[in-house]
Amino acid sequence: ESSRIAVPIGTTLDRFIKNNQDQFAYASGELSQLLRDIALASKVVNREVNKAGLIDIMGAVGSQNLAGDDQQKLDVLANIRFTRALTKGGEASALVSEELDTFVDLNNDGKYVIAIDPLDGSSNIDVNVSIGTIFSIYRRKSPVGTPIQEEDILQPGSEQVAAGYVLYGSSTMLVYTTGHGVNGFTYEPTLGEYFLSHPDMRMPVDGKIYSVNEGSANSFSAPMKAYIQYCKDQRYTARYIGSLVADFHRNLLKGGIYIYPATAKDPKGKLRLIYECNALAFIAEQAGGAATNGHERILDLTPATLHQRTAFYVGSLNMVEKAGELESAS
Ligand code: AHG
Ligand code: MN
Ligand code: MN
Ligand code: MN
Repeated sequence: ESSRIAVPIGTTLDRFIKNNQDQFAYASGELSQLLRDIALASKVVNREVNKAGLIDIMGAVGSQNLAGDDQQKLDVLANIRFTRALTKGGEASALVSEELDTFVDLNNDGKYVIAIDPLDGSSNIDVNVSIGTIFSIYRRKSPVGTPIQEEDILQPGSEQVAAGYVLYGSSTMLVYTTGHGVNGFTYEPTLGEYFLSHPDMRMPVDGKIYSVNEGSANSFSAPMKAYIQYCKDQRYTARYIGSLVADFHRNLLKGGIYIYPATAKDPKGKLRLIYECNALAFIAEQAGGAATNGHERILDLTPATLHQRTAFYVGSLNMVEKAGELESAS
């Protein structure tokens, strides 16, 4: 009896998407196809993440991406897996990726634009700490069948039709929203399927965990220093994994705030608006949380460039509001 696989109660990702098709404003099979393509790529990346160390995919490739990050082998490998899966699926007209200098045309007849951070938390790959993938799905603005325009690529986060992340952690999870709440699926590798494990996820409106790299505290703004002091006075717990997806996911479940503020090294913040912040901001709001740059709602920001950075305050509603009060009081 104990040898039976404890298949989690709950529907598979495929069946869930089909059962909730009406939620997606556009044609029936398209979202399913896009999410299936992304889920497939995540299964391939998950297998490689779990073997890192045994096969030669650790370490850097010796090149930098446009954001100036040293590209890790798994950054490049994950980028290839997601690009290939989205190309084969045919629904995506263009792809924006952290690991590509400019957007790539995939299929002019596709109706969607995907923005992706194929591997988030790369500094943690070689030390066996959780990493992730972040994705946003937009509807293209220009006519299907014509070449992709900049207006298709530089859309504000409020235009997302779906967004999600994959967390390659103690278990691998896929969490996504189509604007009707947030649902979490856990991967059962022996079956190769994602099963619904966290239906209708809600971010606690308050929390006692703050996630910030205090190594940069000397260069924090006065309001940011005041907020960190406030967290200490409240006896909050400090948790900082160095993988945005992992820090975000813990705060989504337990309540908390993640902040990557402006620092001397990154005066506009380090995180990238189009393929990191927008997706998590959409998920946070859909789960009852909030996401700002300290002053404005992340989803209201219209990007001017592909790899544009922003300060990022995301998490429990009351905590993001408190940090914002101190910022606006400054
Ligand atoms: P990526 O690996 O996709 O470049 O993202 C890394 C990001 C984010 O995952 C993490 O929270 C943050 O960088 C860590 O930055 P610091 O090491 O500067 O704290
Ligand atoms: Mn990077
Ligand atoms: Mn990232
Ligand atoms: Mn990355």
